[in-house]
Amino acid sequence: MPIDYSHIADEAKLQIEAVADKAALEELRIKYLGRKGVVAEFMARIPTLPADERKAYGSGLNDLKNKIGVCLAAKEAQLAAIVSSAPDGYIDVTLPGKKPLLGRFHPLTQVESEICDIFRRLGFKIFDGPEVETEYHNFEALNIPLEHPSRDAFDTFYIKLAGEPVSRLAGSTGKLLLRSHTSPAQIRAMKAAKPPVAIIMPGRVYRPDSVDASHCFMFHQVEGIAVDAKIRFSDLKGILIAFAQEMFGQKTKLRFRPSFFPFTEPSAEVDISCFLCRGQGCSVCKKSGWIEVLGCGMMHPHVLKSGGYDPKKWRGFAFGMGVERIAMLKFGINDIRLFFENDLRFLEQF
Ligand code: PHE
Repeated sequence: MPIDYSHIADEAKLQIEAVADKAALEELRIKYLGRKGVVAEFMARIPTLPADERKAYGSGLNDLKNKIGVCLAAKEAQLAAIVSSAPDGYIDVTLPGKKPLLGRFHPLTQVESEICDIFRRLGFKIFDGPEVETEYHNFEALNIPLEHPSRDAFDTFYIKLAGEPVSRLAGSTGKLLLRSHTSPAQIRAMKAAKPPVAIIMPGRVYRPDSVDASHCFMFHQVEGIAVDAKIRFSDLKGILIAFAQEMFGQKTKLRFRPSFFPFTEPSAEVDISCFLCRGQGCSVCKKSGWIEVLGCGMMHPHVLKSGGYDPKKWRGFAFGMGVERIAMLKFGINDIRLFFENDLRFLEQF
């Protein structure tokens, strides 16, 4: 008597009809028709049966296999029809979403803009000086004479133009170089405007330093000057205190230490009270409670004269600060090279 497999056929039919996607359908195909599936299992029993029962048993199994095959094919066609009949612009709401990438400014650009914004609110205008400068603007105009030892403090990249051992710019006395500080922009800013003026000059500067965690051959500075008839050192102090409290917090204190720059007299280096430990002493301020952030002073008469201002009528103050250093302090970054490697894992944190 042939064996009745109809309950298996019915069970398979029910399961196949309930399926909603191709992957689940394939799972059922393997379950019933796969090499180790239900049908194969029954097939394996054939050799154990008495010889006269084998034929009927085998043909019943073939029927079962065909029935399941028909169900699978019908379901496959049904699933394909659903996808192909999807209207244009159909959105599969079951797909995981793609997060849009948000653009952002480089951390150095953010800090430079913040510095400039604060000074803009204090009444300063922005001026852009060139990165390729004349030796005159970088040195002589700023009271750093040729052969003077103070020139060594500003190690410099000189530029040699093709076929021209010593290049000259109109109105300059000497070679071209990559500016080693933003101070030459002081001269160009004064030449471009009549006093009284208050100007800030952000930009790149270059020095042939070997690269390490705190040095790079290119970095950024923001320079500032204010020139008026009766401007005094106390005005410089007031402006810098206002700046530092905006930038580092209202509780920030400033410390002015006597220093030397050829282009300012008197000169000072300015420390801020450590904004991390509030002066208690930590690793950022090297246990001193103070962090050096800028150089400044009253503009040397020689510099005013280079800018075309009469030093008998006008007085000014000047200051300059490093953007990388301030960004490193603000964000707790311990290696300057991170700014220039363009590693998205770093940049995406700001
Ligand atoms: N140019 C100086 C430097 O690069 C900074 C400075 C600017 C100091 C203006 C005083 C006045 O170190």
